[in-house]
Amino acid sequence: MESFTFRNDELWCEDVRVADIASREGTPVYIYSRASVRDHCAWFENALRELPHLSCYAVKANAGAPLLREIAAAGLGADIGSHGELHLALRAGFNPATVTFSGVGKRDDEIEAALGAGIHSLNVESADELDVVDSVARRLGSTARVLLRVNPGIDAPTHPHIATGGGATKFGMGWADVAGLVDGRARFANVRISGVHSHIGSQIVTPGSFTAAARALVEFFRNLNARGAGLEMINIGGGFGVQYRNYLSHALVPPDPEAGDAGVTTAGMIAELLPDLRAAGVTVLLQPGRSLVAHSGILVAKVLYMKRNEKKFVVVDAGMNDILRPSLYHSWHQIVPLRLNPATGLPADTELADVVGPLCETADTLGEGRVLPGLRRGDHLALLCAGAYGSVLSSNYNMRLRPAEVIVDGDRFDVFKPRESLEDLG
Ligand code: LLP
Repeated sequence: MESFTFRNDELWCEDVRVADIASREGTPVYIYSRASVRDHCAWFENALRELPHLSCYAVKANAGAPLLREIAAAGLGADIGSHGELHLALRAGFNPATVTFSGVGKRDDEIEAALGAGIHSLNVESADELDVVDSVARRLGSTARVLLRVNPGIDAPTHPHIATGGGATKFGMGWADVAGLVDGRARFANVRISGVHSHIGSQIVTPGSFTAAARALVEFFRNLNARGAGLEMINIGGGFGVQYRNYLSHALVPPDPEAGDAGVTTAGMIAELLPDLRAAGVTVLLQPGRSLVAHSGILVAKVLYMKRNEKKFVVVDAGMNDILRPSLYHSWHQIVPLRLNPATGLPADTELADVVGPLCETADTLGEGRVLPGLRRGDHLALLCAGAYGSVLSSNYNMRLRPAEVIVDGDRFDVFKPRESLEDLG
């Protein structure tokens, strides 16, 4: 199952030596495994096999064309958050009838494009938005299928920047507001309110809050239908967490669901919810992002300099513009050398070092207090589990060129996104 493995003390992606890609394509470089994306889709779908459902991959996690094509080919739908994501999803082959549209600030032209493409449904987040969807649909002479996003007031146990289910966040609407819109649905002649939606946050690794939110949603759905709402579907969002820590040791230690192992946590959450969901007799929609692609990608950087102030620093050629997660969420990515010490199979130098990028910000720290081997200028390091919210959050900050992106398929690899050039800076 693991597509990134150490073989003879060297890091491989499927049947390609990662060092070969780094020396051919340069650094920083994102490297993805096609088999891993395929396996994670299969794993996720397997966890849901007993449930009538539609999984819509959250394109915001990674919009790389070959990854999207792989996920579409696995039969999943897509959840988009912008016109750009709609464009890429359709180009990758997702059936529009399996595309959902989420987001608190959809523009009129984006709503028009989505309705024009014939997407499955929009997750509507406010009464104002429902009015706009209704008027755009009227102009197009169509009827928009809508799910209303509830903010269940349940905080997900995750980083506050990615918790969306608390009443003080901008997301969704309170229960009473949603019920009010459902009761007044006759006002919206070009909208069909088909269900309710909730997404309480991302990187959720303990099922409690997720299952509580989903159960509350099911009960709400039942109550609305008891008063004749005629709803047909529930969208329980995404948020399934993955194991960031020590995931390369998977082969050695059993996956720990509490640590958020992709698929395992998902399966556990779904298994708990299954009786409620099946009893509701509805189609369940889900919007997994991270759990399908996080483990499928790494970011490889090159060591530029070693230095010591009060601490030891390893300065690499990837920074917060290439991978923002450590700076923005203090998130922890395992950092490993591409070559282990052949004598021991373990990193040789046990002195702790901070791995930092070249940008003029103290926040430009990729990993603090890491155990690394005795590195030299020119050595390579890999940040693992970088397939989700990595390249999509990259920028040209400091007018740096965004990294190349490569997909591995067996013993071959392909650069699907070339490294930016100076011309790309405008
Ligand atoms: N559905 C909605 C409405 C969302 O807003 C999101 C993610 C998802 C589904 C997918 O959630 P996932 O299964 O990936 O947890 N940049 C942050 C994560 C932001 C998540 C935004 N919304 C990070 O790097 O951790």
